[in-house]
Amino acid sequence: MAGQPDVDEFSGTETTGHEWDGIKELNNPLPRWWLYTFYICILWSIGYWIVMPAWPLINSHTKGLIGHSDRASVARSIEEAKAAQGALASRIAETELDQVSADPELLSFALAGGRSAFAVNCSQCHGLGAAGSRGYPNLNDDDWIWGGTVADIHQTILYGIRSEHDESRQNDMPAFLNDEILTREQVDDVVEYVLSLTARAEDDAAAARGAEIYAEQCVACHQEGGVGDRELGAPNLADQIWLYGGERPDLVETVSASRRGVMPPWIDRLDSATLKKLAVYVHSLGGGE
Ligand code: HEC
Ligand code: HEC
Repeated sequence: MAGQPDVDEFSGTETTGHEWDGIKELNNPLPRWWLYTFYICILWSIGYWIVMPAWPLINSHTKGLIGHSDRASVARSIEEAKAAQGALASRIAETELDQVSADPELLSFALAGGRSAFAVNCSQCHGLGAAGSRGYPNLNDDDWIWGGTVADIHQTILYGIRSEHDESRQNDMPAFLNDEILTREQVDDVVEYVLSLTARAEDDAAAARGAEIYAEQCVACHQEGGVGDRELGAPNLADQIWLYGGERPDLVETVSASRRGVMPPWIDRLDSATLKKLAVYVHSLGGGE
């Protein structure tokens, strides 16, 4: 056998002489199409080495005939984008807040920037779609605690609510039970009255007693009939929208302990163009006035 090619008896093809557990490897030539593709790839790579940056040298690399550089072209696109944005950003900075939406180009720039700034800074609390959750108001509806004009929204964003900033929107509802302003029974009565504002009272006598307590303790902020007061950030109690839940136990908890939700101020964290974009974006969400 030595020196003689080993021929497979079934196919009549030469084998490589390798054998594993009685299985032999046929020595078929590579298919032509494969070989030619392979040669073309080799030619292509030689061309590529010459034209494009390819081989590493000790401190740099071969530059290639056309001197292409991904790094330089990315830097160039960033410069171009910055220049384009810079023009719009400085226009936003110069435009009065309530005029931004009058200019379609500025408006769409503000909405895009506002949306992404919202996702980064606000969505943890208000949700990605600004739908809010318990304790964090929905910004899509037209139920505003502090006001829904673009200027109101801008002010809320700049200084926050019950925040550490001097200009913050500020108003604390007393904790009526914890601070011993009302007894437990009086809290139940006034809650019965609040339930009656949305036609849910079950005990008319209690609601009537509650109405008197309301007139003494609550009307200054929540106003006659519970319609609320935006100057004071006192929510409407006569609609079906609740920040802290509208069921009896929720209301008892709110009146007993107060909630005092905090919204941080953004004036020292974001630049003025971004703050304007955010106000315009929130205003556009559906409930803007
Ligand atoms: C740490 C949580 C938190 C973050 C972050 C936050 N908010 Fe708020 N936001 C609140 C709370 C809580 C309130 C409601 C406070 C209250 O009146 O009881 C609020 C209220 C508001 C209001 C007033 C709604 C109304 O009905 O008047 C606006 C507008 C608002 N947020 C916008 C934003 C924007 C824009 C951002 C991002 C720049 C943001 N918030 C980030 C917690 C947050
Ligand atoms: C000094 C003003 C003030 C007074 C007085 C006051 N409230 Fe409030 N109330 C507020 C503010 C501000 C909020 C929003 C609370 C927050 O976000 O922490 C609020 C919130 C509420 C809520 C929660 C609304 C929601 O959407 O979840 C209820 C219920 C409520 N008040 C009932 C009462 C009742 C009943 C009284 C009287 C016993 C009363 N309040 C007295 C200012 C006041």
